[in-house]
Amino acid sequence: MLAPAEVSRIDKRDLLGIMSSLPEQMVFGLDQGSALDLPSDVRRIFIVGMGGSAIAADVFAAWTMDRRATDIQVIRDYRLPAHASEGDIVIAVTYSGDTEETLSAASQAVRIGCKLIGVSSGGKLADFCKENRMERVGVPQGYPPRGAFGYLFGTIAGLCRGVIVDNIDKEIKKAAVHLEEERKALNPDKSTKVNRAKSIALKVYGKTPIIYGSMAFAPVARRWQTEFNENAKILAWASSFPEADHNEIEGWGGSQSSGRFQPIFLRDRNETDELRMRIDATRGIIGRKAKPIEVEDKGDSLLSRMLGTLLLGDLASIYLAVLRKVDPYPVISIDALKAKLRSQGSASES
Ligand code: F6R
Repeated sequence: MLAPAEVSRIDKRDLLGIMSSLPEQMVFGLDQGSALDLPSDVRRIFIVGMGGSAIAADVFAAWTMDRRATDIQVIRDYRLPAHASEGDIVIAVTYSGDTEETLSAASQAVRIGCKLIGVSSGGKLADFCKENRMERVGVPQGYPPRGAFGYLFGTIAGLCRGVIVDNIDKEIKKAAVHLEEERKALNPDKSTKVNRAKSIALKVYGKTPIIYGSMAFAPVARRWQTEFNENAKILAWASSFPEADHNEIEGWGGSQSSGRFQPIFLRDRNETDELRMRIDATRGIIGRKAKPIEVEDKGDSLLSRMLGTLLLGDLASIYLAVLRKVDPYPVISIDALKAKLRSQGSASES
């Protein structure tokens, strides 16, 4: 099961290889973004984007949360918040360069006098930045947006490194080394017995995963969800502690159908004592209905562990696609919806 030949037969365009290039992508993106490095006295940074582009910003913002004086807000919408104003920096991230929500927020940013920086592989955002004499960092073309996570994450980190108190370049490069090790252990040639991504895929097969993260791992849980959605083509949800203990836990207890769901807890050795006790106690209660899969990366820095966990989810979702015999690469419904909206005249063009 999940032998290399079966994986490459179904994953025809090697999405697994693309996702596994995360460490190289990240280091490349960091270099690109660093060329524009923002000043350290910026008041506020808004990063606008959707889906596979926005999640890179979420992960960056969560990772650097305790180490910056500048507020970084990630916006997934057509509009910037009302308090955005002249002097704020807006980084518009759209891998394709054509996402209408992101283009709309980018054009609002220029209207109200924010400094806009684009990040894309080309598309309308490239033209827009040129016309408005705004800078843009280009990322390599030819990837599905979610498969360019490393380029986008690295570029955002390079752009924002001036507002972070420590030298993050070193940490990113160390995390890349850790990811190079991790991906070897998750490769298709490693059997299900030793390959954690394959064994997670087998446990999730036939179920609906609900992925729980806390603190910096909340956006990593969201990435797991979206990767299960887009690659394995299944429904999945992300949730977070401590909030889930104040509502969702009741659903686990009361629902007849809770056995259909597979809880996955993203843990970290540096979670606070309160959280550790809370999550362990929650496992006891949810465990009466469904045994949670617990995942913990052994990396020596927070970023290594966040990205090690993220890569594990990416690859587990592709192995799940193989088990389900669906090509993980195309996103037929997302593309169909975008085409329909384009044919009706996109909001960003109005
Ligand atoms: C597709 C994917 C999507 C896109 C989203 C926005 O691989 O991950 O979630 O990221 O539709 O498109 P971009 O990233 O081009 O702005």
